[in-house]
Amino acid sequence: MSGGKIPDFLRLGVNIDHVATIRNARGGDHPDPVRAAAIVRAAGGDGITAHLREDRRHIRDDDLDRILAATDLPLNLEMAATEEMLEIALRHRPHAACIVPEKREERTTEGGLDAAGQHNRLQPIVHRLADAGIRVSLFIAPEIRQLDAAIKLGVPVVEFHTGDYAHASGESRTVELRRIADMAALAAKNGIEPHAGHGLTYDNVQAIAAIPQLAELNIGHYLIGEAVFTGLEAAIRRMRDLMDAAR
Ligand code: PXP
Repeated sequence: MSGGKIPDFLRLGVNIDHVATIRNARGGDHPDPVRAAAIVRAAGGDGITAHLREDRRHIRDDDLDRILAATDLPLNLEMAATEEMLEIALRHRPHAACIVPEKREERTTEGGLDAAGQHNRLQPIVHRLADAGIRVSLFIAPEIRQLDAAIKLGVPVVEFHTGDYAHASGESRTVELRRIADMAALAAKNGIEPHAGHGLTYDNVQAIAAIPQLAELNIGHYLIGEAVFTGLEAAIRRMRDLMDAAR
């Protein structure tokens, strides 16, 4: 499937949640996600992504204030569709808000948002964020039903969940890749900017980065893990180089 706007550049949003996970393991203030935000900028990252979870297991409310004060990179706030998170987003006014599903017991965001099944609940939240000038994105599975729901909700951006692709191998990985490529083309054809993220690594990023309609990848856990061995700046630079080479 082809069509839609082709962006000339693929942005890298670095999810710094797990810097805070390590900090919180000891309850102190090191390592500080604000320092990570500065390194993202130095390494050529294009944005900071942070997920304020209901249980505050990594990023906390005061981190948002400090990140916003310390960096001029755009902040993409990942948030559940709740009144509490809506109120926090409206107070902090991040550049973008990505609405994600959230279950307290999950280890990570395991699947996409059921935008199709929750239209009535999402609509007022999407409108209030958009009215505040926040660029709204929905984190959805690469499925036609979910993309149709995003089109109906009028969001400017969708982020496709790449977890199934990242966890698949062999023929099923090819199938997952095609689903993402087809949905990215269809999103772009409908005037929605497609992003992608979850589970991306040095080994699997290039096939995703080569999808021409994608405008942004959000990558976190793997980069923070690699940073343990090579430093955060080197890890981001390598990911950036792989993405650029794939375009
Ligand atoms: N995009 C969204 C919407 C996410 O919720 C996450 C984290 O789960 C990511 C991207 C980054 O995923 P990962 O940490 O696996 O790179």
